Amino acid sequence: MVFKKRMLLGVISALVVGGGLLGCADQAGDQAVGQQAESEHPSWPALTSGIAKDPAIESRIDALLAQMSVEEKVGQMIQVEIRTATPEEVREYHIGSILNGGGSFPDNNKHASVADWVALADRYYHASMDTSDGGVAIPMIWGTDAVHGHNNVIGATLFPHNIALGATHNPELMRKIGEVTAAEVSATGIDWVFAPTLAVTRDDRWGRSYESYSEDPEVVRDYAGELVEGLQGTPGSGDLLRGKYVVSTAKHFLADGGTENGIDRGDAMLSEQELMDIHAQGYFSAIESGVQTVMASFSSWNGKKMHGHKYLMTDVLKQQLGFDGFIIGDWAGHQFVNGCSNVSCPQSINAGLDMFMAPDPSWKELFANTVAQAKSGEISAERLNDAVRRILRVKLRAGLFDAGAPSERAYAGDESLIGAPEHRAIARQAVRESLVLLKNNDGLLPLARNQKVLVTGDGADNIGKQSGGWSVTWQGTGNQNADFPGATSVYGGIAEAVESAGGSVQLSTDGSFATKPDVAIVVFGEDPYAEMQGDVSNLRYQGEQDLALMQRLRAQGIPVVGLFITGRPLWVNPQLNASDAFAVIWQPGTEGAGVADVIFRDAQGNVQYDFTGKLTFSWPDDATPVVRNRGENEAQALFQYGYGLSYSDSVQMAALSEESGLQQAEGRESLAIFNGRALDPWHFQVVDAANHQSVISSSVTKLNGISVKSVDRNVQEDSRRLQWTGEGDATVGFFANSRTDLSRYAANGGALVFDVKIDRAPSDAVNIGINCGMDCGAEQAITEVLSGMTAGEWKTVAVDLQCLATDGVKMDMVLSPFYVRTAGALDMTVHNIHVAADAKADIHCG
Ligand code: BGC
Ligand code: BGC
Repeated sequence: MVFKKRMLLGVISALVVGGGLLGCADQAGDQAVGQQAESEHPSWPALTSGIAKDPAIESRIDALLAQMSVEEKVGQMIQVEIRTATPEEVREYHIGSILNGGGSFPDNNKHASVADWVALADRYYHASMDTSDGGVAIPMIWGTDAVHGHNNVIGATLFPHNIALGATHNPELMRKIGEVTAAEVSATGIDWVFAPTLAVTRDDRWGRSYESYSEDPEVVRDYAGELVEGLQGTPGSGDLLRGKYVVSTAKHFLADGGTENGIDRGDAMLSEQELMDIHAQGYFSAIESGVQTVMASFSSWNGKKMHGHKYLMTDVLKQQLGFDGFIIGDWAGHQFVNGCSNVSCPQSINAGLDMFMAPDPSWKELFANTVAQAKSGEISAERLNDAVRRILRVKLRAGLFDAGAPSERAYAGDESLIGAPEHRAIARQAVRESLVLLKNNDGLLPLARNQKVLVTGDGADNIGKQSGGWSVTWQGTGNQNADFPGATSVYGGIAEAVESAGGSVQLSTDGSFATKPDVAIVVFGEDPYAEMQGDVSNLRYQGEQDLALMQRLRAQGIPVVGLFITGRPLWVNPQLNASDAFAVIWQPGTEGAGVADVIFRDAQGNVQYDFTGKLTFSWPDDATPVVRNRGENEAQALFQYGYGLSYSDSVQMAALSEESGLQQAEGRESLAIFNGRALDPWHFQVVDAANHQSVISSSVTKLNGISVKSVDRNVQEDSRRLQWTGEGDATVGFFANSRTDLSRYAANGGALVFDVKIDRAPSDAVNIGINCGMDCGAEQAITEVLSGMTAGEWKTVAVDLQCLATDGVKMDMVLSPFYVRTAGALDMTVHNIHVAADAKADIHCG
């Protein structure tokens, strides 16, 4: 029997983020989406991988497959995480791959040495090669997120994030960055990196915007192949995929950057033509350069999860585009496919996923269920063998069968590669070329070195902040400068430039100074974030303190240079107005000295390096979340795609409007969620006890463990009767693909108010909840209130919003304002659901 377990928050989040507004009114509806796409599909190019099939490798695979048991095959298809699987377990389950997630290190030690990494790699390798229980020896492959250098390793060279690299418009540099990254990864005995990210970000509110080279496919396509060859080596060369080269991953397939409203893991609602013309372009050059793995995206296309998308994974990627490597899942992303759980998802494998990324401790159940499904034929022998063949093909191409233990490989353990001076020099060059000058009134820049310089702002001497997310830790937070040995802060670079030429530098984060400076450099901007935690609801940069600091310096007659650390274009008109010169320095990484290289003249007073960076993202003229891209709403860009001044331009910028364009919702009028129908932007949705996600439009719907029915209270169908059978957790509520700001309601004593009638009292806990995205939400028990009601009688219940506005809940970014969840039996009818201001609550908190 196949056991299914649920991951609660994940399930609800999945409903919110791309549960399928267009698709899946039910299973049939789900299929309808796929069919519609297929009947209209444009002609995808027929590509050839840069790495040709080798008949010798294929026959070696035939021989291996012939000897492998179903268990061994399934083991190859499961990737486990170093925190949740020991080498001993890798041996026992014939596991084919391991990863370390963001901020995951040997022995949980952030300061693990190169020797520690290699020793751990050796232990997993030996476990995978141990055939003492019988079976075939197949070396494991270790994957890591080296997304801007080998970013989980202390002392590594960290490059500027991709958004900055886009601005360099230098494909050749991408190849070098790939090579440096691969060399540092090889030093730790690791074989495979989850990079490059080929997202084409269309809505800059997305928390992963900085992982994207551009909003326009052109740069992404030009870079993808270079990066892949830099990481893997050039097809045809002797060192391909070995020596100082590693296996690379094109991610996240497909349209991770195209989700509605920039919601991480959301739904890309696009035509197939747009999918191909915008989001797939990077994959074309990556495949032609021989990329060996592709990571499936968490997101959906028109309501259907990519992890279950047979048409795109199998028909398009593998067949049409000729991709013959393997598809890896993303962080238990299979669990969000309709009908799946984190421990069971034959649907994903059948759709074309070849390897599950299974980072949580339940991977053994996933293993057992997948073995059972392969034995019962639910996963065909043909599909099983194809998946394993692809994995073995990549391992054989990478020479892993013959390379010996990681510690025996040529570069493993070579500490001198980590943060090597030649590597840092390339990163510093990337910093220089990525800086974009937006304002330079009166030619303030370039600065002379021999003057009194004040360096201020909280980004001035903060290597964690200047490195952004995916820097030692997953979110890039919680680091000190000491966690980046060998790195240079922006201040460090300035101090070195100025002091070496007889000038003087004062550093103060608050702008205070002992001696009045000739010029002040204010380094400020976004704090680090990664993935969904970086999603925002509008484009306002919220640094009130930085602005006051700039204005104060300006008022004292000190010229101000604003240096903006950011992972995306944000509305900074007030800061632009408060600066004489203003440059976007993005998230430059460990080589902050690249900034001083450009903003200062050399010691002789000549321009040493000019600004050459040009925007690959349109810059907004106000904070409203209008989608601004090359060729789309260009009139609403303050600076269009391609903008960037150099020292030969003499452009005087006049004062800009400081109207953000945002209107604060007052939160004083009641906000209806349901009044007989779900109000815009919400849809009435259910996740049933078998994790089928459905948008409910019909008047009666029966699902696993729950049925929902439109019923009459005052007028026809003005209420919904929700009947849970007690067969497992099921959730019903109102969900959207866009965000609603409830923060003012929370501040104004607001409450979530609904009328309810009970026909069968709850047999287990009942919670109502709100959700603001993946891992973002809160629930409040209403069991007692419901249990105390008289059967058949209506009651109005008001829950204080404070109960739901708990830590970590972004009340200004709500995706679901109301859902009900229980695993027990319950028969309840709801009517008139709304958010009220100043309501008298029955359930109080805080
Ligand atoms: C991991 C990351 C991962 C994230 C996904 C974190 O705990 O360390 O690598 O991307 O979870 O939610
Ligand atoms: C991210 C991927 C990453 C993986 C492993 C996921 O949450 O989406 O980009 O490769 O975690 O850390």
